[in-house]
Amino acid sequence: MNIAILGTGKVGSALGTRLASTGHHVVHGSRTRAGEPGILSRSEAVASADVVVTAIPGTAVLSTLDEIGEDVLGERIVLDPSAAFTPQMTMAYPGDSVAQQVQARFPRLRVVKTLNTMNHTIMVDPLASLPLATAFVSGDDSAAKTVVTSLLADLGWPEAAILDLGGVDTALATEHVAPLFFASVKALATAQFNIAISR
Ligand SMILES: NC(=O)c1ccc[n+]([C@@H]2O[C@H](COP(=O)([O-])OP(=O)(O)OC[C@H]3O[C@@H](n4cnc5c(N)ncnc54)[C@H](OP(=O)(O)O)[C@@H]3O)[C@@H](O)[C@H]2O)c1
Repeated sequence: MNIAILGTGKVGSALGTRLASTGHHVVHGSRTRAGEPGILSRSEAVASADVVVTAIPGTAVLSTLDEIGEDVLGERIVLDPSAAFTPQMTMAYPGDSVAQQVQARFPRLRVVKTLNTMNHTIMVDPLASLPLATAFVSGDDSAAKTVVTSLLADLGWPEAAILDLGGVDTALATEHVAPLFFASVKALATAQFNIAISR
């Protein structure tokens, strides 16, 4: 599968390295590093991709996709692991979500929210700390969720750890896990822990 990862930071690098190691063709789309090996402009990266990963600040996702433009974005699948914060690290969109905003602005895109409730090290090595985290999945398009779930399997996620919450509206719930996540980081003095649904 051709995968364009927007962003070259912690999440983008971790996902890119792991997905490339499982046979996917990965390019990064960058504002600042186009021309380096494996890194294109953001529009060039998206143009040849089946799946676009928004590994950039949540507050920059809409403006970045606006710049790339609807003609280039088309009907692509968007795997959105982003979180959106104010400079004071409060929720940037209380009562709303990045994923819902993207889906509303670009109705042809097929947005799937996932991996936003854990540290980037866990995203690509889910068995690193046990018991397992839950990988929540939210999106309106079933076929897109099937593709994203197969990518989660390539990242090492067992089927039993993946929870399809339903439509993209459910991304509101997982994006609002962020305050719990950061309070837990502070209390535990580490980001190596898992948020999971147990039953
Ligand atoms: N780190 C985690 O463990 C973690 C966990 C869950 C969710 N997330 C979310 O995942 C996303 C990426 O996190 P990260 O930790 O990889 O962040 P990061 O290390 O700071 O990297 C973000 C990348 O986004 C691009 N970027 C930065 N500012 C931008 C802007 N204003 N407009 C467009 N692109 C911009 C940069 O790439 P270029 O300069 O190459 O364009 C940068 O390398 C964020 O939404 C974050 O909240 C992170």
